[in-house]
Amino acid sequence: MGGKYVTETLRAEAGGLARAVAILREGGLVAVPTETVYGLAARADSDAAVAGIYEAKGRPSFNPLIVHVASFEQAHALAEFTPEAERLAEEHWPGPLTLVLPRRHDAGLAAAVTAGLDTLALRMPAHPVMQRLLKEVGLPLAAPSANRSGFISPTTPAHVLASLDGRIHAVLDGGECERGLESTIVAVRADGSVEVLRPGPIPLEAKAGEGERIEAPGQLASHYAPGKPVRLNATQVAPDDFMIGFGAVGGDCTLSASGDLAEAAARLYACLHEGARSDKPRIAVAPIPERGIGVAINDRLRRAATPPG
Ligand code: TXA
Ligand code: MG
Repeated sequence: MGGKYVTETLRAEAGGLARAVAILREGGLVAVPTETVYGLAARADSDAAVAGIYEAKGRPSFNPLIVHVASFEQAHALAEFTPEAERLAEEHWPGPLTLVLPRRHDAGLAAAVTAGLDTLALRMPAHPVMQRLLKEVGLPLAAPSANRSGFISPTTPAHVLASLDGRIHAVLDGGECERGLESTIVAVRADGSVEVLRPGPIPLEAKAGEGERIEAPGQLASHYAPGKPVRLNATQVAPDDFMIGFGAVGGDCTLSASGDLAEAAARLYACLHEGARSDKPRIAVAPIPERGIGVAINDRLRRAATPPG
């Protein structure tokens, strides 16, 4: 795919981390590993750098970004933590939990990060390469998933390059993402109430929001699109199907032959990428149990099965 950059692949252990730090400080775009999916990072305090994220992804400007931090100190400088928010962060950070909190207006973030909202989405990732990067850059990093807007999220550097090669400066190779699904997003209100905006690896008891209000604007009905029809809860393979199996239901790609939901989450986007690349015109997916992280897997699959537009 053409583009305005020659995208470098950097290895953390071979001086690549220092190179990634330099690119980010200069305002460039680097795809970075996290325990959930690869993110497309830029310094969150630079209007030009953040504009680059929206441009590279083709992301609508009304869809705000998650800001990634290295420390509680950095987090507290950016948003207001209620006692409930503090408790959730203490329990789950570093890890796959994003907190949506009232933002501090004097924090010096690029305006486009929050897309006009009074709240800020914050996360402290657990991936060791991302943690080192954040510490060495010394700045909060804005990072949506490292894919073209609306398409399948990336869990390997190859997935990143499949949609962003030539559109970003570099991808920092941190191997395969362990969790494989985007973070759980939770809004903590000033009155202490908690609302799950996006299900994810951390199963939270809090009630999901009523109605179809799009508060996490990226939570549109169609997302993670492989570019061909997707049929869910399939137990029979049709000749035209690229079959994604689970448990006893086999396939061209299996999420987990043993029926393990954590393994299925980690493999979901790899199987969808494979299905997207295959010659088969359709994708079919075996039923996934609606419990634990299965809830988040089914959330992503429903969006992948919803035609765009
Ligand atoms: O695991 C993850 O969360 C990954 C890694 C890279 O950290 N990031 C990720 O970013 O999934 P993205 O942009 O693909 O999804 C972020 C979601 C979007 O649906 C966006 O609308 C929502 O978070 N969001 C961001 N700021 C928000 C805010 N202030 N209020 C409500 N939703 C917000
Ligand atoms: Mg995304």
